[in-house]
Order: sequence, then structure tokens, then C-alpha cells
Amino acid sequence: MISVVVLISGSGSNLLALLQKSENPIYPAKIVAVGSDCDAAGLEHAELYEVDTFVVNPAQFSSKEDWATTLLANVQHHQPDLVVLAGFMRILPANFVTALKGKLINIHPSLLPEFKGAHAVRDALAAGVTKTGVTIHYVDEGIDTGDIIVQSEVLIEPGDSERTLHERIKKVEHELLAATIEQLAHQQSPVAKL
Ligand code: GAR
Repeated sequence: MISVVVLISGSGSNLLALLQKSENPIYPAKIVAVGSDCDAAGLEHAELYEVDTFVVNPAQFSSKEDWATTLLANVQHHQPDLVVLAGFMRILPANFVTALKGKLINIHPSLLPEFKGAHAVRDALAAGVTKTGVTIHYVDEGIDTGDIIVQSEVLIEPGDSERTLHERIKKVEHELLAATIEQLAHQQSPVAKL
């Protein structure tokens, strides 16, 4: 069993899907805390599941590095084996990323390296491509540049809006994120290391 801290900024549908999966006693990951950079709506899911929450708002710090140091302290307080960015919409500075190297992953709504950044779904539609998808990757100091763990395609349908396409992408994200964490948990478990 691995312990996981999830960081969010928005509605937290990926978080909710993970909380639901981890209700199953044979699911090998437990969410020990949920953090945010703002008063995110998704924090309610954590409260419903009686998971600890914390908010570290960058507006209350004089530098990005100071903000990240406090965010990191909150994360490390829970001694996670894995930290998951699930719709966390801030760029994390090097001091945070370096401290968690190898155990910090991000879910992104495109087939990276296509459509990096905060508007990946809108950008894919604007580019007129016929397919996009989901990427789960390790986080490094760049923006959406870390080593890719897994990708899954989503076809763009005629008449798709940003909302309809993102809804279909999120359905894929919910399954892929849970399955990927499960796989990483098996790799990290003592039995797997024998
Ligand atoms: C997800 O689609 C996630 O891939 C995306 O934010 C959404 C969060 O949804 N992340 C990024 O765009 C990161 N660049 P949720 O709050 O409903 O889980």
C-alpha cells in the first residue's frame, strides 16, 4: 500500500474518481491528504471522504520559491510515496520539483508533447486535429516536459466543443490515473522489489 498526496486547483473530478477507487480494500494506494493553491471546489470531495486538506495560496508569499517551500512542507508532513498533480494549475519551481523527483506525477489533457500548457483542450480544437488524448508523466523542471509514463488517445468528434471534448477526456483520465497509480504502487511495494 502506498500513500498519496493529491494536489488540485479546480473541480477535482480526477480526485473524486481516485477517492472512489481507493474505497476498494484491494486498491493499493491510499490518499492521505489533498492540497490546493486556492479554495478549490474539489476540496469538498476530500472532506466528504474525511481526508486531510491544506491550502497554500501563492498570494500570501513574497516569492514563488517561498510559496513552494511551504507547499512542500505541507506535502512532506504526510510522508507520501507519490504526489499527484490532478488539475493543479500552477507551475512548480525547481525547489519543489527537485525535492520530489521520481515521485511527482502530472495528468495532462493532451498527447504530449502536443498542446502543453493550461489550455490543452482548447488548443487541440483550434489546431483542427482529429485526435487528442491524455498523458500521465513525471514532473521535471520544465512545463509538461517530464518522462511520459502512459498515454491514451481520445478522438475529436465533429461538433465537439471544449466542454464536450474535455468531458470525454476526463472520463479517460479517471480510469487511466487510477490504473497508473495502481501500477506504480505495485512497482514500489516491498513484494515487487524482492
Ligand atoms: C484535467 O483535465 C487535467 O488533465 C487538467 O485539468 C483538469 C482537471 O480536472 N490539467 C491540466 O490542464 C494541467 N496542465 P478535474 O479538476 O476535474 O480533475
